[in-house]
Amino acid sequence: MFEQLVGKLPVGIGVVNENFQVVYLNEFFLDRLPHELRGDYKEKVVTDLFEGQGKFLKRRLKSVFVLQHPSFSYWEQRPHIFPFKSSRPITGEETQMYQNMEILPVKDPNTGERLACIFLQDVTAQASYFRTQQKLSEALKKEHEAQRKLIKKLDSAQSQLIQAEKMASTGQLAAGIAHEINNPIGFVNANLNTLAQYASHLISIADGVQEQINAFGEELAEQITSLYESNHYALLKEDINELISESAEGLMRVKEIVENLKNFSIESKEGVQNIDLCKICQQIISLVSAQYNKPLYKLDYEREDVTITGYPGPIKQALMNIVLNAAQATAQKGFVKIYIKEENQHIHVKVLDSGHGISQQNLKRIFDPFFTTKPEGQGQGLGLSVAYTAVKQHQGKINVSSKEGKGTVFEIILPKYFLVQDAEK
Ligand SMILES: Nc1ncnc2c1ncn2[C@@H]1O[C@H](COP(=O)(O)OP(=O)(O)OP(=O)(O)O)[C@@H](O)[C@H]1O
Ligand SMILES: [Mg+2]
Repeated sequence: MFEQLVGKLPVGIGVVNENFQVVYLNEFFLDRLPHELRGDYKEKVVTDLFEGQGKFLKRRLKSVFVLQHPSFSYWEQRPHIFPFKSSRPITGEETQMYQNMEILPVKDPNTGERLACIFLQDVTAQASYFRTQQKLSEALKKEHEAQRKLIKKLDSAQSQLIQAEKMASTGQLAAGIAHEINNPIGFVNANLNTLAQYASHLISIADGVQEQINAFGEELAEQITSLYESNHYALLKEDINELISESAEGLMRVKEIVENLKNFSIESKEGVQNIDLCKICQQIISLVSAQYNKPLYKLDYEREDVTITGYPGPIKQALMNIVLNAAQATAQKGFVKIYIKEENQHIHVKVLDSGHGISQQNLKRIFDPFFTTKPEGQGQGLGLSVAYTAVKQHQGKINVSSKEGKGTVFEIILPKYFLVQDAEK
């Protein structure tokens, strides 16, 4: 019964002696022998019966006889030790049988002769599955690599888009600058023309006075008076100062515009630093309340040491511009409040005012460069676009909500840690 069982096991079992001669083979091996050999395989050398990897098999058998230790060989290192066909090909590809082989040292219980038992397993199914998985994982790896390349391409396309957007807004900016600068330049120019005429009159008065003094005649006083009159001296005297101070004001405006435009770049010599937001807001409040002389400014914070990292100049400028707008929108009895809190690695600075508010229609345009509702000469419309640029560059954002006649809330959200972009490093 036991012999029958061993004979029919679906694994190969063979026994050889120290001369590698076959002592026993079960049906797994026998079925794979050529017909003519099936009757008398005994005492034949195992590697003569099965060609395959004879040298390797002999070496393993020898080591088992000498060391009296089992030896194992896995299909991945030696897939086909015996030249058997696959009994159950999984796919059309696998025609050869993949094998795991174990050789165990045994002893003949009657004679005490040293023998080796070869134990052979057909692992074609596992091997085939494993190889398919390997191929799949390689394909996945390739796909992953392709995706990585695609993401890189997308990234660069995105930064190009951002750049294009920047260029477009720079174009918009340039058009705005041309418009704004044209105005002061226009009147400086006109004033200069008038000044040139006035100067020529003044020169002729001076020349005439000189001549008269030289002649020093009797009618001198009379003639000088008529000279002054014919050159409109009284008007000249009055107008000339006005023209000069107006021209100077025009030039100041040009200077201010150019100064403000410089704020569009956050490139800063000071570099990235720790910024104490409470301290900055305190400074802004004292500056603005001194300028507008309104009593109701208030600063509130959860903790006193709310800091972020970033460029101090542009951050200060952004907050200043927003607080200034709030102060300008608020009447004498109104209030401006700043509230600072920290949440999820972000700092929220809320600037609330009880001012005139912003209409729904204007709300869409307040961040546009040169958008202003203030009278000519009072606002350049650059404050919020400068603030927006600075906050965006610090990877933050600005939210606004406003009710006409009630007031406005600007919320600036800044990450606690500013990561300098590659391009800015
Ligand atoms: N807190 C606020 N309340 C009411 N209106 C506001 C407020 N903040 C901004 N605005 C509106 O947004 C417009 C644009 O503001 P921005 O600061 O960009 O320019 P500006 O204040 O007009 O001029 P500048 O800041 O260059 O002197 C303002 O003219 C105003 O109409
Ligand atoms: Mg402003």
